[in-house]
Amino acid sequence: MNFKPFSIGSITISKPLLQAPLDGWTNEPFRRITRELGAPVSVTEFINGLDVVHKTPNLPQRIAFDESERPIIFQLFDDDPQRLIDSACILEARCHPDAFDINMGCSARQVANRGAGAGLLRHPEKIETIISGIRAKVSVPVTAKIRLGWDDDSINYLEVGKIVEDCGAAMITLHARTRKQEYSGHADWSAIAAMKVSLHIPVVGNGDVVTVADAERMINETGCDAVMVGRAMLRNPWIFAGYDFEEVPMDLFRDTCRKHLRYNMEYYGEQWGCVTFRKFAKRYLSRLEVSREDMLKLMTTDDPASFCGYFDALLNGETL
Ligand SMILES: Cc1cc2nc3c(=O)[nH]c(=O)nc-3n(C[C@H](O)[C@H](O)[C@H](O)COP(=O)(O)O)c2cc1C
Repeated sequence: MNFKPFSIGSITISKPLLQAPLDGWTNEPFRRITRELGAPVSVTEFINGLDVVHKTPNLPQRIAFDESERPIIFQLFDDDPQRLIDSACILEARCHPDAFDINMGCSARQVANRGAGAGLLRHPEKIETIISGIRAKVSVPVTAKIRLGWDDDSINYLEVGKIVEDCGAAMITLHARTRKQEYSGHADWSAIAAMKVSLHIPVVGNGDVVTVADAERMINETGCDAVMVGRAMLRNPWIFAGYDFEEVPMDLFRDTCRKHLRYNMEYYGEQWGCVTFRKFAKRYLSRLEVSREDMLKLMTTDDPASFCGYFDALLNGETL
């Protein structure tokens, strides 16, 4: 792989292959796994400005990270510029993240229709207030993650990119789909190339990278400074070590799977750690031939000892 380091402001990122923020997935245990496999930076799941300002009970888990994860980027979302600015100030004082990323791409109805996430793309004037406002108040770099626009009739990523850059952002990530597309169709990588030539700050390309070859192709075809991998890493965090899913050496595969379960149990406690690991287990075990009955047994047990025993046996290629 011919990957070159790049910078987010004063932070040097050793490898241009980034872990995407994924709500419900990129929690502390999973991020530790991606980092140990070679991801050069951690990005949290998006953190709601409302939760920060109102100190809701789920906030501590959203902002928890292990010091070994540095550099870590906190991703924030909200529709209210002042609340986003306040949230960044509160979190900087409390957790000292290495950068803040502002979510301007989330397509989920409850987020975008409230005017947050991709909803912000319809209000470039708010984007200006948000990026300038946070930049003025925090000492770390501020970045943004956007989509092409709200829909085909309102493509404005180049305009938004210029605003973000002019307001002092240190990097921009483009998920090359519109909000209306959500996850359908294909990401338009030509837009990533267009953004790269129109801006001076680092441009990160995102959308539909599944294999190591895809990541290389995105860099070669678009000239982007880095590639961000989302859904594919949920099954294959080994992509950060340079492996496609089917190519991961079996010893490394089993070790990582067991370690991820252990981290999850340490973090969430035994019971909840096993329950929240089910979705990862299902994806990892797709590498092996596991019968429907055995998968069902694994997915339905509530007993942590049984879950661990079953998972171990299935990783070893045994039947239950
Ligand atoms: C379940 C799920 C949760 C996501 N959560 C976030 C999030 O919290 N913040 C964000 O910026 N993007 C989020 N995204 C979008 C991804 O970061 C990424 O932009 C998108 O999946 C496209 O990349 P991919 O084709 O590599 O998956 C989420 C996507 C999915 C599928």
